[in-house]
Amino acid sequence: MIYLDNAATTMIKPPCVAEAVTAALTSLGNASRGAHEGALNTNRLLYRTRGKLADFFGCPKSEQVIFTNNSTEALNIALTGTLRPGDHVITTVLEHNSVLRPLYRLQRERGVGLSFVPADRRGLIDYADFERLIQPNTRAVVCTHASNLTGNLLDIKRIGEIAAKHGLLFIVDASQTAGAVPIDMVDMNITLLCFTGHKSMMGPQGTGGLLINGDVEVEPFKVGGTGVQSFLTTQPREYPTRLEAGTLNGHGIAGLSAAVDFIRQTGIDAIHAHEIALARRFHGVVSAIPGVVTYGDFATWDRCPIVALNVGGADSALVCDALSCDYGIATRAGAHCAPLMHRALGTEKQGAVRFSFGYFNTDDDVEAAVQAVKEIAERIG
Ligand code: ALA
Repeated sequence: MIYLDNAATTMIKPPCVAEAVTAALTSLGNASRGAHEGALNTNRLLYRTRGKLADFFGCPKSEQVIFTNNSTEALNIALTGTLRPGDHVITTVLEHNSVLRPLYRLQRERGVGLSFVPADRRGLIDYADFERLIQPNTRAVVCTHASNLTGNLLDIKRIGEIAAKHGLLFIVDASQTAGAVPIDMVDMNITLLCFTGHKSMMGPQGTGGLLINGDVEVEPFKVGGTGVQSFLTTQPREYPTRLEAGTLNGHGIAGLSAAVDFIRQTGIDAIHAHEIALARRFHGVVSAIPGVVTYGDFATWDRCPIVALNVGGADSALVCDALSCDYGIATRAGAHCAPLMHRALGTEKQGAVRFSFGYFNTDDDVEAAVQAVKEIAERIG
């Protein structure tokens, strides 16, 4: 299989990730639930990994690195844990349902007001809209770092400056960028950063995190056992325990830790440059094929290695199936959990076929994908 669905999850991981998970499977006890070597091994792993992640994302306090199962869980904690009845939030139409659905629920259940920064047909936004949409009760700006559909990056530093200027919380969904694009929470004024471990971080599924920059009160989304202060009837107030009820995914976190080491050793810029070069080469050829329409902004260099396209009026699912069944090429079709972005692009009915490149893809993969799209376009056209 030629795997070009890295925006959904990276399937090919650095070998050190599997090695770390395998070793962890037979060496980890339950952190904070014992003083024996197995339990302490896990505590050490968690502290080490919190430190690595704090360093990687520029989070000032490693104890404010909270482990979660993915970005969806991190976003649910961040949004539900900070937004109060009557607050107003500014977000964008680029968002994934992992942002949208928690926000819609807060709108229904807490009367949280929502305003959306619109996008044009190339998926581009006007940054002035963030200031234009501010209301007296605006509490937070919540946005993705990159569209999972078009691959367009948002200028997070610029949005962070606006949020800081107006004293707003800045909550960032880094699902598509963590591990692929440098992020510094302090420099970018990010209050809460939500990331997943299984995409560009190249770690295992079921890993991710919420990083908290500064003295921010985030109320727990779930409560339960922590291994400490067992006679308290409420969740302990200290981070990270406050937000980490239940046994953590130590085995996955061991893999995530190894993945961070791999990214550090390889260099995030080298990883990004390789992936972007593949995506651009692919885009350059397929966008010239008659009948093929591509989406997103390729005029700016910095973006995610994603190329979303359609072939004529064909349903994206049929093209995706043909790629998989006839050519052994894995892509993702449909709506990509990004309904507002599809609406902005005018692709609600057709969806789009998303090719997303990863560090382990090669020029040969690009050639094979180009050839497949050419043949499908000829067949359909
Ligand atoms: N959010 C993931 C994607 O974009 C699953 O495919």
